[in-house]
Amino acid sequence: MEQQFISKLSTNAFSLEKGSVNAKSPSNIALIKYWGKKKNQIPTNSSISYTLTNSYTETELKFSPKTSEEFDVEVYLEGELKESFTPKIITFFERITAYIPFLKHYKFEVHTHNSFPHSSGIASSASGMSAMALCLVQIENILGANLTEDELLQKASFLARLGSGSACRSVYKGLVEWGENNFIEGSSDLYGTKFPDNEIHEVFKTFHDTILLIHEGQKSVSSTVGHNLMNGHPYAEQRFIEANDNLKTLIPILKNGDVKAFGELVEHEALTLHAMMMMSNPAFILMKPNTVAALEKLWEFRRETGKQLYFTLDAGANVHLLYPAIDAEAIEVFIENELKKFCQNGNYIEDKVTF
Ligand code: PMV
Repeated sequence: MEQQFISKLSTNAFSLEKGSVNAKSPSNIALIKYWGKKKNQIPTNSSISYTLTNSYTETELKFSPKTSEEFDVEVYLEGELKESFTPKIITFFERITAYIPFLKHYKFEVHTHNSFPHSSGIASSASGMSAMALCLVQIENILGANLTEDELLQKASFLARLGSGSACRSVYKGLVEWGENNFIEGSSDLYGTKFPDNEIHEVFKTFHDTILLIHEGQKSVSSTVGHNLMNGHPYAEQRFIEANDNLKTLIPILKNGDVKAFGELVEHEALTLHAMMMMSNPAFILMKPNTVAALEKLWEFRRETGKQLYFTLDAGANVHLLYPAIDAEAIEVFIENELKKFCQNGNYIEDKVTF
């Protein structure tokens, strides 16, 4: 299956000229979580995420011909050379070199900018790797690969996955599924698949995602370490089965617009992700006291007002508040008055889904 992504460009056929390409890619927030992987970034269960709007990475990739036999890449974040980022990009290049044959023929300069602060605890790997992959397939086309728009996006998703698993879902807008299963047509372990817009009730296309920045700073468990915790985890097999079942359960809910069922399932997924980490060896508790305080306040608000406010969590302390536009006004007053105080420096990011 991977064979289909091997480049049709012949290694001698490059017109070795310099140039540059650009791509912008948003972050995504998983509703059904990917947690656990096999060799070559193959997920142990299917996942689905919303692609966001305001949290994105913009990347310019400059390339110029060179003769040495090594990868040559420099990464600039917000205009500043970041030597510490080079090894991650070199590892990425090593993984994708079978599919992108020109990587050793050019010197690359990556100029990248995130719309969200680096210290916010929002992972930039999904948006960053997706933007980088979108740049590389554009160069492939400039060099004559002739990929159609669909082929280009699918290959970008395939490559992005090899950079950071969840990045493969950031290539498309809307809801994006990743992981092969027998109930979503076209689903694959190798790349993300756009979940059809006409299978999604309008209410879910209006969702806001307000991100409470409870604890700014680096995550305390890297995702590589995190996924590895599922190897030999006593509840791993049951978790993989449940995640796929949860995705299957979500499909009719997405269609019929049942926000309550949606929210309850999504909260269950978030808490399960954290429970898995608490039961790992070594164990991690990624919630902070203010994470728990915000969740309790949210549940109280929901009980008292009946407003459709739900949460999900990443592998970190921040809280993603999910709610439909119809309830946004009241919920945003509640966030400002009651939840903002749990955020470090009172910071939160107002984002929404993008369709
Ligand atoms: O793509 P990674 O390796 O950074 O893993 C992301 C894992 C979660 O964000 C916790 C869940 C997900 O599906 O995005």
